[in-house]
Amino acid sequence: TSPLKIAVIPGDGIGTEVMPYGVRCLEAAGKVFGIELSFETFDFASCDFYEKHGDMLPPDWKETLSGFDAIYFGAVGMPDRVPDDVSLWGSLLKFRREFDQYINLRPCRLLAGVKCPLAGRKPGDIDFWIVRENTEGEYSSIGGKIFEGTDRETVMQETVMTRTGVDRVLRYAFDLAQQRPRKKLTSATKSNGISITMPYWDARVREMAKGYPDVKVDKYHIDILTAHFVQHPDMFDVVVGSNLFGDILSDLGPACTGTIGIAPSGNINPDRAFPSLFEPVHGSAPDIAGRGVANPVGMIWAGQMLLQHFGFRDAADAVLGAIESVLARGDADVVTADMGGKGTTKSLGEAIEAEILAAKK
Ligand code: NAD
Ligand code: IPM
Ligand code: MN
Repeated sequence: TSPLKIAVIPGDGIGTEVMPYGVRCLEAAGKVFGIELSFETFDFASCDFYEKHGDMLPPDWKETLSGFDAIYFGAVGMPDRVPDDVSLWGSLLKFRREFDQYINLRPCRLLAGVKCPLAGRKPGDIDFWIVRENTEGEYSSIGGKIFEGTDRETVMQETVMTRTGVDRVLRYAFDLAQQRPRKKLTSATKSNGISITMPYWDARVREMAKGYPDVKVDKYHIDILTAHFVQHPDMFDVVVGSNLFGDILSDLGPACTGTIGIAPSGNINPDRAFPSLFEPVHGSAPDIAGRGVANPVGMIWAGQMLLQHFGFRDAADAVLGAIESVLARGDADVVTADMGGKGTTKSLGEAIEAEILAAKK
């Protein structure tokens, strides 16, 4: 068999600091489980590249990346140097759209050894998936400005929901819920205030539910849903939301499980017409960049999702197992500051790598 070809894009800030440990952990899993992986690193999709070339990506980026099985992505954004809308619409959001990665899958799990900011919660109490629509919705480029510079200055941006776009993310979420023991799906809505697109979303949920009689479905408006995330995180099994709601929930969820530094995400094209992209949920964290103290777990766990995506279950389980055992030990010299430790990206990354290497095939 030919090796799995992985395009490595570290990006900016802590993306470049956590990526080496992500790659090392994937290499370790490949070694132990006999999976052939090849890596090629690209300097585009970074603000350095933008400053050199005037664009976030080279003209042939799509051709280049299409030759890979998967993209392993760090984080992009240096808002003091390049406006965020320019750097993100010029890179990550382009990948998601042009590679039709219409599912953004984000686990939310309270792991042993991680201090939970919510009182009285223990591992097992928080264990759900966020399924975020990833190619349309509130993230649209349809809109504009008129009467600029006058008192009548007006800006507009349209939310776009297509039947295909909504149905395919709902179907994925229902399928996922059906595979889980609790078979429960929660839909994020705001159909009381957003009176055209959100009632449409709700109607498509009702329609889709007819095909999944065994899945328990509920829905909450996004405002109270955020409160339930904090007060009753044990309610959730699979949570499906539009692009913006899913974005917000997927920082809130991991924050409820200790830190966004551990959260991974899979930007998935289930049809496999294009490569899928695996990345941490967090950004480039300019506030801590350059100090070597970023938590590498989100990056490493994203690698675990990559392995899972290609059906390398044992390897994926070993990576998650390694993350869990290192965090459960909770050695203060190893874990990073966002988890209450005094460790570094290196100490935590290498501890997980060593644990993977010690795993039995
Ligand atoms: P952020 O996720 O970069 O940081 C938010 C806070 O969490 C910061 O205080 C940061 O120090 C902390 N943090 C994040 N990841 C951490 C980690 N691994 N370990 C320890 N602490 C961590 O979000 P932001 O500050 O809103 O955005 C910074 C830049 O990143 C912006 O340019 C933004 O647009 C971009 N961004 C990119 C992505 C991406 O590439 N996927 C995601 C989110 C934000
Ligand atoms: C994420 C990020 C991106 C998003 C930003 C950087 C455009 O926050 O992946 O969650 O909003 O999707
Ligand atoms: Mn986000």
